[in-house]
Amino acid sequence: MGMAYVSRSRKKMWLHKVVFLPMFIFLCLSSLSCAARQPPASRQKLQVHKHLKRLNKTPVKSIQSPDGDMIDCVHISHQPAFDHPFLKDHKIQMRPYYHPEGLYDKNKVNTESKERENTIKQLWHASGTCPEDTIPIRRTKEEDVLRASSVKRYGKKRHTSIPMNRNIPKSADPDLVNESGHQHAIAYVEGDRYYGAKATMNVWEPKIQQPNEFSLSQMWILGGSFGEDLNSIEAGWQVSPDLYGDNNTRLFTYWTSDAYQATGCYNLLCSGFIQINNNIAMGASISPVSAYRNSQYDISILIWKDQKEGNWWMQFGDGYVLGYWPSFLFSYLADSASMIEWGGEVVNSEPDGQHTSTQMGSGRFPEEGFGKASYFKNIQVVDKANGLKSPKDIGTFTEQSNCYDVQTGRNSDWGHYFYYGGPGRNPNCP
Ligand SMILES: *[C@@H]1O[C@H](CO)[C@@H](O)[C@H](O)[C@H]1NC(C)=O
Ligand SMILES: *[C@@H]1O[C@H](CO)[C@@H](O)[C@H](O)[C@H]1NC(C)=O
Repeated sequence: MGMAYVSRSRKKMWLHKVVFLPMFIFLCLSSLSCAARQPPASRQKLQVHKHLKRLNKTPVKSIQSPDGDMIDCVHISHQPAFDHPFLKDHKIQMRPYYHPEGLYDKNKVNTESKERENTIKQLWHASGTCPEDTIPIRRTKEEDVLRASSVKRYGKKRHTSIPMNRNIPKSADPDLVNESGHQHAIAYVEGDRYYGAKATMNVWEPKIQQPNEFSLSQMWILGGSFGEDLNSIEAGWQVSPDLYGDNNTRLFTYWTSDAYQATGCYNLLCSGFIQINNNIAMGASISPVSAYRNSQYDISILIWKDQKEGNWWMQFGDGYVLGYWPSFLFSYLADSASMIEWGGEVVNSEPDGQHTSTQMGSGRFPEEGFGKASYFKNIQVVDKANGLKSPKDIGTFTEQSNCYDVQTGRNSDWGHYFYYGGPGRNPNCP
């Protein structure tokens, strides 16, 4: 085995010298800017600029947001999705064929949340609106890309952020739990075929101890195994200094079809999601956010599969249909999801060898309840018959309940709900 390997690699070296080296020199001589002769710093700069050019499409109009973001109103047919070779001749679907049934049932819960949602906005709305036939895109700045470990990894979660193995036996494996340093406090359902999920979650601005850490609250629509082929569609709010350069709470989405390896990204930072809405920018700051013992602000997110076309749609609040992930992006999710999760996730990079003090949710434990702890309420799933239903047999999971915890409940106003979160480092979580 060893021998064969050596001789093969020797052969490769020889091939390299004879064929590739002269070719390389030739390319160098014939090209004005020879990448190989540039110092690494300016080569990286070139790469960054190329990437920015790919991401930032020529806008019809630009809006300067008070938080420093530039929101570009890009013509709907020029959005990043259409860089995807499979979407070259794609005809944009301007609305879903079906919403899940039961979504607009007149009941107390819905009208109540409608009133509250009307007051929650994205910060950039203070400075203008995007015209029809455009979509708002948060412009990527050079420094955004430079904060990433590489141009290629910009806008992607780390491989190790596999949501965790939520199958209880494996998650009890210490290596798996502590390997990634990601900590969760979630509720989940599994064991059925799911065609969507919905929840209303209150929004906070958790403190982040280190810029390389984040805190997010989201739902996961999952298919496949937690190994190499996990399919995931995710949406919620997050604070991520590395991704955005500040501590603001932002609306985000994520997708992957290979367990966070080569495919997928946050928001519109790669081609995949097709946006149709001109009001909501992915990755833009949400304002206002909830305050301890004070006003509570929440957002509703619905993700569902249009069972006619197969696309996965996302709706924000009661009226904003944002767009869809085409079915072909996925393997397992091309059919249905096998697991849904709702809850919080933080990165614990163990600064100073101690548990991080990065907060999850409001930074308070579930016991504190309304006005203090963070919650998900009216959690529902979409079944095969396209109906929004209360989930059966909700499980919960957390790696270290002394750091971040979760508690489920049910009542007539909130349906299935749970409180979750915590402060991270504390005397019981050293
Ligand atoms: C993970 O690490 C923490 C401290 O770093 C430790 O307290 C905990 O027991 C570990 N979890 C498991 C399951 O080994
Ligand atoms: C974000 O918050 C941390 C502390 O939680 C602070 O040290 C840092 O300066 C803040 N970053 C920005 C860009 O405001």
